[in-house]
Amino acid sequence: MDSFVYQGQPSRVVFGWGRLDGVAEELDRLGVRRALVLTTPEQQALGERVAALLGERSAGVYAKAKMHVPVEVAEAARAEAARQGADGCIAVGGGSTIGLGKAIALEAGLPILAVPTTYAGSEMTPIYGLTEQRLKTTGRDPRVLPRTVIYDPQLTLSLPVAISACSGMNAMAHAVEALYAQDANPIISLMAEESIRALAQALPAVVADPEHREARRDALYGAWLAGICLGSVGMAIHHKLCHTLGGTFNLPHAPAHAILLPHSAHYNREAAAEPLSRAARALGGSRADEVGPLLHRLNQRLGIPQGLADIGFPAEGPAETARIACDKPYYNPRPFEREAIEALLDRALQGQAPA
Ligand SMILES: [Fe+2]
Repeated sequence: MDSFVYQGQPSRVVFGWGRLDGVAEELDRLGVRRALVLTTPEQQALGERVAALLGERSAGVYAKAKMHVPVEVAEAARAEAARQGADGCIAVGGGSTIGLGKAIALEAGLPILAVPTTYAGSEMTPIYGLTEQRLKTTGRDPRVLPRTVIYDPQLTLSLPVAISACSGMNAMAHAVEALYAQDANPIISLMAEESIRALAQALPAVVADPEHREARRDALYGAWLAGICLGSVGMAIHHKLCHTLGGTFNLPHAPAHAILLPHSAHYNREAAAEPLSRAARALGGSRADEVGPLLHRLNQRLGIPQGLADIGFPAEGPAETARIACDKPYYNPRPFEREAIEALLDRALQGQAPA
C-alpha cells in the first residue's frame, strides 16, 4: 500500500427495518416535490405502496421496467415523468428498475431515490447500461448515482431463497474482486472484508429461514458494502469470464457468478495472496488458498447448483470462453493463462471443488 487513490461516491444511505416509511421525508431532503415511482410489472403492488406513502406527491407508478434497460422503455419513462410533472424518481426493485432510474437521470437529470429489494448493488454505482437493438452499451457517469438509497430489510423478506442465495454470492464476487483490484485502496478493502464476513454469515441463515429478521438485515448490509466495492474499484478475471458466460452462452447472471467465484478466486491465490488472506479471514479461514474451497462449500450450504453444466454451459464452453477471455483480458493480479483458465472452467463446468 505505497500510494492509492480513494474517490468517495456521494450518496445518502438510510438503513433499517421499516425505514421505507420515511420516504417522503427523504424526498424533502432532496428538494423533490413530485416523484414518479418506477417498478417492474411484478413489483407494481410495492410501487403502489410507495405511491400511497407519498400521497399527493406521487406522480404515479410506472411499472414497466425491463431487464437490460431497453432504450424505448427509458424514453417512454422519461416522457411519462415529464407528462406527470415529476421532478424526481423513486426506483423500487432490483437491477432492472434501478437501471431504468439511472437512464432517466442520465438524460433528464432528475434525482433518483433508490429502494433496492435485491442484493445486486447497482444503487451504489455510477455505472449504467442501455440496450438498443439487442446491443448493450454501458458507461459511467456520476449523474446516474442515486442521491439517496433506502435499505429496508423488510422488503427483502419476499425475495425467494434461491434468488437470495445467488444474488448474495453475486454481491460477494464484487467484494472478493475489490480486494485484489488494480485500483484497490485501504478504505474499500475494509468494506470488502466486512461485506464478505456479513454475507458469509447471513446467507446460510437466510436460506435456513427466509424470514429471519437479523439474517435479512445482515445480508442486505453485506450487499450494500459489496455495491460500494463495485462502484469504486475495477473488477478482474472473474468478471471477464462471467461476461462471456452471459454474453456468449446466455447463462443466468447471478447463478453463473455464484458458481464461478470459488474458481476465479482460487486462480489468484498466489498472485493475490495478501488480499485473499483477508477474504479467507472473513470466511473463517486464514490462508489465501483456502478461499476457493471455502466459497465452494458455502455455495453447497446455500443449495446453489454446483456446476455450470447445471445452468446450461456446454461441454465446449471452457475452451471457447478461455479463448475469448485471453483475446481481450482485463487487469488481473495473475496474467490470463489460457490453459489454466480452461482447466478452471472445466472444473466449474462439472461442479468440482477448485484445485
Ligand atoms: Fe458483477
